[in-house]
Amino acid sequence: MLPERRPGVQRPTSGPLVDAFGRVHTYLRVSVTDRCNYRCAYCMPAAGLDWMKREDLLTYEEIARIVTALARCGIVRIRLTGGEPTVRKGLPDLVARLAAIEGITDIAMTTNGHLFAKDAAVFARAGLRRLNVSIDSLDPVQFKRLTRGGDLARVLDSVAAARDQGLVPVKINAVIIGNENEDQVDAMVDHFASDAATTQVRFIEYMPFSALADGVAQGQSWKHVAASRLRERLAKRWTLEPVDVSQGSGPAKHWRLVESGLIVGFISPITEHFCESCNRLRLQADGHLRTCLSREAAPSLRDVIRAGITDEALEQALRERVWGKIAGHDAHELGSGLAFDGAMTSVGG
Ligand code: 5AD
Ligand code: SF4
Repeated sequence: MLPERRPGVQRPTSGPLVDAFGRVHTYLRVSVTDRCNYRCAYCMPAAGLDWMKREDLLTYEEIARIVTALARCGIVRIRLTGGEPTVRKGLPDLVARLAAIEGITDIAMTTNGHLFAKDAAVFARAGLRRLNVSIDSLDPVQFKRLTRGGDLARVLDSVAAARDQGLVPVKINAVIIGNENEDQVDAMVDHFASDAATTQVRFIEYMPFSALADGVAQGQSWKHVAASRLRERLAKRWTLEPVDVSQGSGPAKHWRLVESGLIVGFISPITEHFCESCNRLRLQADGHLRTCLSREAAPSLRDVIRAGITDEALEQALRERVWGKIAGHDAHELGSGLAFDGAMTSVGG
């Protein structure tokens, strides 16, 4: 279901960040780079993408300015993403800057885990609170193939390092693709069963992004696997009990595997639409503010900031932008059509 526009309601000039559908925004995803040291087959072509130019990226100072303005409008939670956020230099400095902003209560990061372990303590000291790590297979050979060169052992070290630093629960994100890694659902819940106190596993339905249209045309036709099917698969071996651990935030729906205590989440952009309760905004590394992951022209805040906008005008520009947010995406209607514009690496998941 997509939300319905509220007729006759005017855009507020103060208070929380609300859109014309009445959705209140408290959560911001900040992509700090579109680059990555992996090349997951479903995410990027082997040769990489046309990276953003360095001078086009927001500086940490500019990111902090935008986050300060958004925090004044009620954004409280931040997630750093990429591309792969840890490939950008000095990232703990950004974490520390953001942690110091009044109103920001939670900073998390999504990483592929290749570079995180050695800096885990630095990140924790800077103010990082939680970590999500992407792992699509626990078979080192399949992992290497899917990521085109990834090193599973390093990634699992990062999961352990995050736990040691108290960045818990560590959430493992697994994108499940039909005929590729569906069996990893069992492997994941078995592997992390003994870490149920500090770890959750989330299964994500693959989303078709237009940047990979070439890849799809070349015969790689990836297909999402419906969350309901994965739940049925798990129910053959485990007792599933629904739990509410969402903190009123993300789109994942959670279940506890009673026998191990492990909490598993399902993120189903394709089959279980959650646009109606969307509370998130996305800041791209080049300063484009995306209010929706789906098709959307996104004007750059970088240019307005570099042109010298005042704090008050910036705040009103942000409010206007959010007010104009579209209802949502229609991937469920398009089936496997290319419902999402650009690449995941620029819009930051
Ligand atoms: N569909 C679903 N998830 C994706 N991710 C990257 N590309 C896609 C896609 N096309 C995931 C990554 C990571 C998170 C940021 O998004 O695997 O876990
Ligand atoms: Fe890199 Fe994540 Fe894309 Fe894999 S899915 S290539 S780790 S950005």
